[in-house]
Amino acid sequence: MSDLELTRLRGFQDSLGADARAMSLVEERARAIFERYSIKEIRIPVLERAQLYVRSSGETSDIVEKQMYTFTDRDEGETVVALRPEGTPGVVRAYVEAGLDRTDPEQRLFYSGPMFRRERPQKGRYRQFYQFGVEVFGRPDPACDAELLIMIDELCRDLKLPFTMEINTIGDQKCRPAFRNALVQWARAHWDELDDDCHNRLDRNPLRILDCKKDAEVTKSAPSSLDFLCDECRGHFEGVKDLLSAADVKYVVNPRMVRGLDYYTRTAFEVTAEGLGAQSTVVAGGRYDGLVEVMGGAAVAGIGFALGVDRMALALEAAGIAPSGAPNAAIIFWGASAARQAMVVGSQMRAANLNVAMLSPERKMKTLLARAWKMGARFAVIIGVDEVAQGIVQLRDLKNSSQRGVPVAEVARAITDALK
Ligand code: HAM
Repeated sequence: MSDLELTRLRGFQDSLGADARAMSLVEERARAIFERYSIKEIRIPVLERAQLYVRSSGETSDIVEKQMYTFTDRDEGETVVALRPEGTPGVVRAYVEAGLDRTDPEQRLFYSGPMFRRERPQKGRYRQFYQFGVEVFGRPDPACDAELLIMIDELCRDLKLPFTMEINTIGDQKCRPAFRNALVQWARAHWDELDDDCHNRLDRNPLRILDCKKDAEVTKSAPSSLDFLCDECRGHFEGVKDLLSAADVKYVVNPRMVRGLDYYTRTAFEVTAEGLGAQSTVVAGGRYDGLVEVMGGAAVAGIGFALGVDRMALALEAAGIAPSGAPNAAIIFWGASAARQAMVVGSQMRAANLNVAMLSPERKMKTLLARAWKMGARFAVIIGVDEVAQGIVQLRDLKNSSQRGVPVAEVARAITDALK
């Protein structure tokens, strides 16, 4: 495009063809599996009060500190609004606003759609990206944590994604202060080995010192949250692990894992996929038992996660298992009577679940066959005046260039049999 001002913004993506198909596949499979776990859909606004995220995601989270797209809405009495950087705060708000925390607190909800964060763009990290998320309310028991992790495991296996599931517990309001103090002391003792990012985190959000990627080696000697757990948090974590083993779910305990959002308590988890480079986390979430109350609701437990649809699609492509969306057959026809026949044959083939592309009759046979091959079609169904007169089509196998006449009524079956 010659006019630079009309190109897309940095960090904003167009998804076309196979990329869009892979994203849709992730969304379709996630929806199908979530529904089997009796999770109901919720749709929430893309635009919310910025204050919603300050209160929930946390003032010291990267999202609120530097990544939100905000503007002042003149129609709303000068309210500062933000494009949603994540779905959890909006879902909690909707849950409380509908009064469910008091009338029917146990809820299992899923949502999907675009999220916006002004991050430094790189492979797998965009400024508009898509999440498919789940939030469960009113379930403080470890069986709920385990059920969500079992579901995530099922989804990743269903997609045939090579993945690793990491879990941790970061304690609760009761036991976390001791862990936080230990981390602060450790950081002071290792001050010179830590970079500026970590120094800044020390006062604002000491747990995130463990997230200092540059200093991954240094943080190996940092204290572990597992050594500071109170009996309740330890019992909860043991319960989760036991149920995961009962369900034969493979996981790794990573005591260094902390999450970048402030609302988490107890169980935290991340799923990473191969072939993605630095941005390898495809699913992330955890428990947030105090959040509903912080947002003005009742004291109701909460837990959830979001999967990054863009990253999951990239991981499928990296593993060579993304669906191509290529047609099984392309129909090539010339003339009015052949066009009518093409409509009939096309309908029959689609009724047999075949993916059919109809090619423009404006070009030469050779060009159209080349186009069908380029689209990834295995067969060409060729219809001219002679074929119409005989009630047949020419079925051409584009793989070996063999061709034979097949009666119209048998085309769909002939292709289906050949594809088996
Ligand atoms: P999060 O870790 O910020 O958690 O994001 C979840 C997932 O969204 C990430 O693991 C990643 O796959 C994807 N993601 C995040 N940022 C980007 C980006 N800039 N570009 C591409 N993909 C991205 C949350 O958002 C929490 N709300 C999850 C949650 C739900 N916790 C409890 N309930």
